[in-house]
Amino acid sequence: MASIDSVLQEHRVFPPSAETIARAAISGMAAYEALCKEAETDYAGYWARLAREHLLWKKPFTQSLDESNAPFYKWFEDGTLNVSFNCLDRNLENGNADKVALIFEADDGKVTRTTYRELHSLVCKFANGLKSRGIKKGDRVIIYMPMSVEGVAAMQACARIGATHSVVFGGFSAKSVQERVVDAGATAVITADEQCRGGKNIALKAVVDEAIAMGGCEAIHSVVVYKRTGNAIGMSAGRDVWLHDLLEGQSATCEPEWVGAEHPLFLLYTSGSTGKPKGVQHSSAGYLLHAILTNKWTFDLKPEDVYWCTADIGWVTGHTYIAYGPLACGATQIVFEGVPTYPDAGRFWRVIQDQKVSVFYTAPTAIRSLIKAAETTATAHPRNYDLTSLRLLGTVGEPINPEAWMWYYEQIGGSRCPVMDTFWQTETGGHVITPLPGVTPLVPGSCTLPFPGIAAAVVDESGHDVEWGKGGFLVIKRPWPSMIRTIWGDPERYRNSYFPGDLGGKLYLAGDGAVRDAKTGYFTIMGRIDDVLNVSGHRMGTMEIESALVSCTELVAEAAVVGRPDDLTGEAICAFVVLKGPRPTGDAAKAIVKKLQDWVAKEIGPIAKPKDIRFGDNLPKTRSGKIMRRLLRSLAKGEEITQDVSTLENPAILEQLKQSV
Ligand code: WTA
Repeated sequence: MASIDSVLQEHRVFPPSAETIARAAISGMAAYEALCKEAETDYAGYWARLAREHLLWKKPFTQSLDESNAPFYKWFEDGTLNVSFNCLDRNLENGNADKVALIFEADDGKVTRTTYRELHSLVCKFANGLKSRGIKKGDRVIIYMPMSVEGVAAMQACARIGATHSVVFGGFSAKSVQERVVDAGATAVITADEQCRGGKNIALKAVVDEAIAMGGCEAIHSVVVYKRTGNAIGMSAGRDVWLHDLLEGQSATCEPEWVGAEHPLFLLYTSGSTGKPKGVQHSSAGYLLHAILTNKWTFDLKPEDVYWCTADIGWVTGHTYIAYGPLACGATQIVFEGVPTYPDAGRFWRVIQDQKVSVFYTAPTAIRSLIKAAETTATAHPRNYDLTSLRLLGTVGEPINPEAWMWYYEQIGGSRCPVMDTFWQTETGGHVITPLPGVTPLVPGSCTLPFPGIAAAVVDESGHDVEWGKGGFLVIKRPWPSMIRTIWGDPERYRNSYFPGDLGGKLYLAGDGAVRDAKTGYFTIMGRIDDVLNVSGHRMGTMEIESALVSCTELVAEAAVVGRPDDLTGEAICAFVVLKGPRPTGDAAKAIVKKLQDWVAKEIGPIAKPKDIRFGDNLPKTRSGKIMRRLLRSLAKGEEITQDVSTLENPAILEQLKQSV
């Protein structure tokens, strides 16, 4: 990443203010070190203590960690609980019943509030409704929903009856939905007629219909449809049911299904090195424990906070930091349907001002685009809004460059709010390397230190620690409660991807490069070391995009996809394509670029569209036929080729591939 050098030369340090230390859940470096020490001395005991303190158990567990079948770790296994009970009933019992749980801010600006009591009642009815359709513990349910109270309720309702949900981001295509239905073996889908984003209505139900029609989805017996816009959609008699009809007459109480601690709460598909997205499987107790702890310790959530995480429930951030963690902590939070730039790029700042948001969690890509907007449009400038309600800021999803960090800190946080640069992944369940507000002196561009109990380290190819100051692979040396349990249906892929033999088979390999500061030991993430790109904080596999391109058999003979640094989106997708016909130029080339972009959008989703497509008569290959991707990366960046090209079979091809269409 272009920003690495500037991070490594970063000398600005922002120690926590006395006020922040005083109010924080974990106050001062000594308190942090004591927790780390406790975890080091009695690892299983440390997590067991926290699991007893922060979770409500139906039946308490007797054993903390079971390593007998590593790396298939089990935590708190003989305990039983229910995640929805922990998120909702807990708040009815502790005086939060009439507290607002969700402030729903619709795309058009309309605001509705839902208390914990109301949410509990909705979730119970929803859960009873699902049961009435024969959905039960262990069934897999696909959720393809807009950001909505009903979307959160759908997740909670599944948790309540022990059904394992798999949320599919609303921007994914029919093909992506179909693949997930098939892989998960889902029997039901919860969706909406349409979603509203940036003043436009976008089909959801029609996409589900298209997905089911593709075949392999015969097991889907129910499609529950939330009416968001009311525009006409097709309903298949017997299979499809409106959510409001399903809820009608249902009881507002629903005895939770008490499940084992390891019961799979959800699957979430994410991109890996190979073509097929993998279903990351999470547990119930361990996952929820970390969701609660990180909300309490990283965000220091307090009863009076108004919390806003701008992620979508289709991503893991929307699971841990919207649908589960904040509710289990009794927070009042914003659920935002819209986009940051509608009706104008001041939207985020207006919502913060109007709803008096105190904790704000967003992605570097959003910050970068809003910096740009603020420079050009007056209404988009944060100085035109009262942001004094803010007390803590967070970022997630990709490295944040120090310049963006400083802008966020100064312009949004008024140089008063600590910025939590939280590093984590779909697989880790919650923050694993992050500052804590009352503890960590902040350095722009660094996610600083491990969350207490997370044994993060940087190692070389053989799994040995590298010296501070030297780059290597980011690993986590010991299991932790919220870690991925397996890849759904593919335990071997789980083992090979995350616990590779080269590193000794025991270290969790994150897939990112990292370096620790030579003096402080602070971590800086250097980006993915595998074939995964990070575009606007969204994970995309290069192989996935390549397979999508070559599946356009009418046009494409061969394709290779690489990332290149992009000021706005972090990385941009660059595709090198060999067509079946002659290499096009001029307007013909432009037309094919558009065609291929649309094709990829249809195959995967608009977020996977290559920004840059270049055509060649061939791709740069070694004599043995291997595509030389490092050359493609240099070409994509516009760098002069200084590498050794003597093994290249067809050096003349490089000239052609230098040019963008
Ligand atoms: C990247 C998102 C730098 C990283 C929660 C990781 C980050 C991938 C940060 C996971 C951060 C996430 N600094 N890089 N603070 N947070 N990443 O699974 O490459 O969608 O491996 O989870 O995002 O993306 P995922």
